[in-house]
Amino acid sequence: LNYQVPRTRKEIFETLVNGLLRLEYRGYDSAGIAVDGPKKTATDNNNIICIIKTKGKVKALDEELYKKDSLDLDEELYTHFGIAHTRWATHGEPSPVNSHPHRSDKEHEFVVIHNGIITNYKELKAYLINKGYEFESETDTEVIPKLTKYVYDNREDDNITFSTLVERVIKQLEGAFALVFKSRHFPSEAVSTRRGSPLLIGVRSEQELTTDIPIQYNSVQEKNSHNRPDCPSGINSVGDGRPVEYYFASDASAIIEHTNKVLYLEDNDMAVVIGGELSIRRVKQQDGEVPVRAIQTLQMELQQIMKGNFDAFMQKEIFEQPESVVNTMRGRICFDSNTVILGGLKDHLKEIKRCRRLIVIGCGTSFHAAVATRQVLEELTELSVMVELASDFLDRNTPVFRDDVCFFISQSGETADTLMALRYCKGQGALTVGITNTVGSSICRETDCGVHVNAGPEIGVASTKAYTSQFVALTMFGLMMSEDRLSLQPRRMEIIEGFKVLPELIKQVLALDEKIKAIADELYEQKSLLVMGRGFHYATCLEGALKIKEITYMHSEGILAGELKHGPLALIDKDMPVIMIIMKDACYTKCQNALQQVTARSGRPIILCCQDDHEISQMAYHTIELPHTVDCLQGILSVIPLQLLSFHLAVLRGYDVDFPRNLAKSVTVE
Ligand code: G6P
Repeated sequence: LNYQVPRTRKEIFETLVNGLLRLEYRGYDSAGIAVDGPKKTATDNNNIICIIKTKGKVKALDEELYKKDSLDLDEELYTHFGIAHTRWATHGEPSPVNSHPHRSDKEHEFVVIHNGIITNYKELKAYLINKGYEFESETDTEVIPKLTKYVYDNREDDNITFSTLVERVIKQLEGAFALVFKSRHFPSEAVSTRRGSPLLIGVRSEQELTTDIPIQYNSVQEKNSHNRPDCPSGINSVGDGRPVEYYFASDASAIIEHTNKVLYLEDNDMAVVIGGELSIRRVKQQDGEVPVRAIQTLQMELQQIMKGNFDAFMQKEIFEQPESVVNTMRGRICFDSNTVILGGLKDHLKEIKRCRRLIVIGCGTSFHAAVATRQVLEELTELSVMVELASDFLDRNTPVFRDDVCFFISQSGETADTLMALRYCKGQGALTVGITNTVGSSICRETDCGVHVNAGPEIGVASTKAYTSQFVALTMFGLMMSEDRLSLQPRRMEIIEGFKVLPELIKQVLALDEKIKAIADELYEQKSLLVMGRGFHYATCLEGALKIKEITYMHSEGILAGELKHGPLALIDKDMPVIMIIMKDACYTKCQNALQQVTARSGRPIILCCQDDHEISQMAYHTIELPHTVDCLQGILSVIPLQLLSFHLAVLRGYDVDFPRNLAKSVTVE
């Protein structure tokens, strides 16, 4: 929004569409936009809001916008407040009518975009239907604009403000939401609020922004913009008269090309822009609450989120791993003194050392990072370590105690199941630690302490570099915990030495890309692919199989080799493709036994093994030979060939590697 410099409707579309394109990586199945429509006459104050929605890609929406001649793309507007949204279906199939923005009525009195889930929507819908409202979509979201109109039409106070109206509406909502409201009754105003779903505001200003935004509690007299002209000469500022533009988004990548100054809203904050002035409101100040929202500077650069020379973000991210693991270690490992300091944890170290057990919780790939490092954490911390899938952990109402330390692993920092588990553990009094890749995310902010893995933005839906960085961060935590354990020093030194050469070894693994592509050429028409291993490589099997499932849509299973004889052996014959991971570690002999059992059933295994392991290569159909490192870091090297293999399989099968069907990068619903 900016009231001093007019923009054409076309420019407004471009800004919104570009923002949506930057958010594509989160996964979606339809998109929509709402902007102010052309006025009939120059003096016409009867604001019209146009809504355009399409199923499928943002590109389809973009094309649709230019088909509408009636939209007058060149008209200049002073109030450039548009809203746009990509939807990932939770209630109702992907279709234009189910996509956002949703509207109160055919006149578009109130339009809303929503990220999250309204859990009591059925009750609200029944109530509104009873009051004569007709619903057009199958979504939970549609109750919000309808309820807003209901509250507006039944208001007692003719001067009700937009934010008071929204405040009354959200009081009735249960579930999770980030919402932006637009209304023809309040044409120059934007109202936005959140509870449980992420929401930030980018602030673009010609001048240096140093002030934080003070929160206004409800005792403050609200301004009312009713009857303001569309082009007010009023204040357009962050408090002190400087011209600004505001961008509301659920993710910084949508706005980073406009500004790197952002403020994060907290649950139940209400952000209101009236006549170009931003204010943040809350009902009342809670004990200990800081009464400002700080404007922060993001370090993320646009080029970081572009594809570079690669065909897909996922491919780029796989090849970034020699650098991303260095970024995770940077400034934290001192190779001269063999010390590891994780700044975000050091003040809590004593407390963590006194704990009874560690519980490491995550979903998907982040859970696999917990599985991958469990053994080294047990070894270095000498504590009992539980690894838990967030959803199952919650389903079981798992007993958690005040002397537990709970880790929450999440690339996005927004995964709803992980966030719920965090809130549950906090409620039980445990110390909570976040391991995330997204600064300012909900998990970062709600944990007591934590570590940013610093892998850089990950855009491909299938996680790759975040996994290896989580692996590194968790292992570093183990090293930090064991610094004063004399008996563990040789082991610590070995691991720290391993970290030193890790980037070089990752490069050597990436150099196997051609060979892996040749294997993909042989496998891509198969229906199934098994990945088998044990010990430090069980997590690689789970993660490799997940990558294959996610982006190639082949059936794939990660199998613990120790369980082979308890079922999976029945699947083995000459036609079933099997990948086995057999590295020279404590499980080597046991893995050789598994290999014998597979070849005895005419299986033709593709084997990931150590360089020059002739014994193994003789029994293999193909081998992928990996450089050797310390056993507990070898999993970082063994997962990369499977990341590459899944990438090539998906390309050969003709699928969109970065945006697999039915999946989202950031799953902000339970
Ligand atoms: C989704 C993504 C996965 C990711 C998982 C956990 O399923 O598609 O790639 O591993 O969520 O996400 P998080 O952001 O918590 O690591």
